[in-house]
Amino acid sequence: MERLVINGGNLLKGSVDINGAKNAAVAILPAAIMASEGKCTIDNIPDIEDVHCLERILRDLGCDIIKIDNNTLEIDSTNVNKFDANTDDVRRMRASYYFIGALLSRFKEARVLLPGGCPIGVRPIDQHIKGFEALGADVIIEHGAVKVKADKLVGANVFFDVVSVGATINVMIAATLAEGVTVLENVAKEPHVVDVANFLNSMGANIKGAGTDVIRVTGVESLKGCAYSVVPDQIEAGTFMIAAAATGGDVYVRNVIPKHLESISAKLIEMGATVEEGDDCVRVTADKPLKAVNIKTTPYPGFPTDVQQPMSTLLSIVPGRSLITESIWENRHKHIDELKKMGANIKVEGRVAIIDGAEKLTGAIVKATDLRAGAAMVIAGLIAEGTTEITSIEHIDRGYPHIENKFRALGADIKRIKVDEE
Ligand code: EPU
Repeated sequence: MERLVINGGNLLKGSVDINGAKNAAVAILPAAIMASEGKCTIDNIPDIEDVHCLERILRDLGCDIIKIDNNTLEIDSTNVNKFDANTDDVRRMRASYYFIGALLSRFKEARVLLPGGCPIGVRPIDQHIKGFEALGADVIIEHGAVKVKADKLVGANVFFDVVSVGATINVMIAATLAEGVTVLENVAKEPHVVDVANFLNSMGANIKGAGTDVIRVTGVESLKGCAYSVVPDQIEAGTFMIAAAATGGDVYVRNVIPKHLESISAKLIEMGATVEEGDDCVRVTADKPLKAVNIKTTPYPGFPTDVQQPMSTLLSIVPGRSLITESIWENRHKHIDELKKMGANIKVEGRVAIIDGAEKLTGAIVKATDLRAGAAMVIAGLIAEGTTEITSIEHIDRGYPHIENKFRALGADIKRIKVDEE
């Protein structure tokens, strides 16, 4: 077991390079299994536990993988002949559900154990299933697995009942090798959705409209390998931007697409921080007192749910009352109890966190209750008086590459320690 130990109080200064997007990479890697000839060479893959999990699943399904470096994989899916994703890794993470769409698309059948992931809400997959069925697949759930099978997949119109990142990507993947045209409406527009469409197009797919409300997929017969670089991580970038503002620092967040960060930049500016945009960099400075603000999470281009928890840490020390309304997940305020152990003054009523800015946070032993909660606790440790120890950091390792090294390079006093048991 490991913990992060942080001695708070240091300003963050300098620059940090953002890695490729977790939520793009975790869809691109399963989708690579659809190439029936050639190899996919994918770079800018974040070196995180969710990616390591997917690598193991791909190998189990018969892919040959060469690790070129920590951020680049060469995947050869030519010899895949197993359609049953049934290892513990599949159950451990959310994105394993992309193997349903990818295997169904290429082989017209799949059996994939139901996915796990962060405990932030109910997380149904009914919209994925609705899309697969519309394309002509039979879908059953039995013995904790999703089984899909089709004689052939035929393009269809699908209007999603909710805006879902996962369902948009999964049904887009499945439609790629269907006969004819599929029109997906009320889709998610997140940068990672666009990135997966770009990756599929690089393999030979014909997908138009990703990033708008309607995606049109014209089925092609087969896909082949390609070279691809994963889009920068909007959420990792947002986390560092918030940490910079929280410590009153001056940080260049590099290797980003500033457009993807606009909702986060706008909120920081509304609070009184300065955000300067360069071509592939944002500089965040906060040298004067910040103001309380209200935030409501919504699908892209709105304020991302995945940055809401780090933002609650920042707001916990901003004078006045801030409200955070979480509209995507019903259970994404669990980290608030941990922040309270550090002196935060926050009440949760349903989906709303009512934050009354405290004078300061003080170090304590706290838990990373999920991935972004973990990031929120790291920022809390950075601004707290004294020492903070964060437990259950395996959640953080699932999605943030080498988080302690990146913060240490910015001047934080943070280290990883081993402990016998939690
Ligand atoms: N939903 C349904 N039915 C479905 C699918 C989703 O009702 O079939 C609902 C969900 O319950 C939720 C809303 O739709 O209320 C949005 O869920 P979505 O499908 O967009 O979420 P997801 O694909 O499971 C991805 C990210 C999450 C991120 C959300 C929202 C991955 C692997 N995960 O989840 O990321 O919060 O989109 O942007 O891409 C994280 O990175 O920390 C994380 C949790």
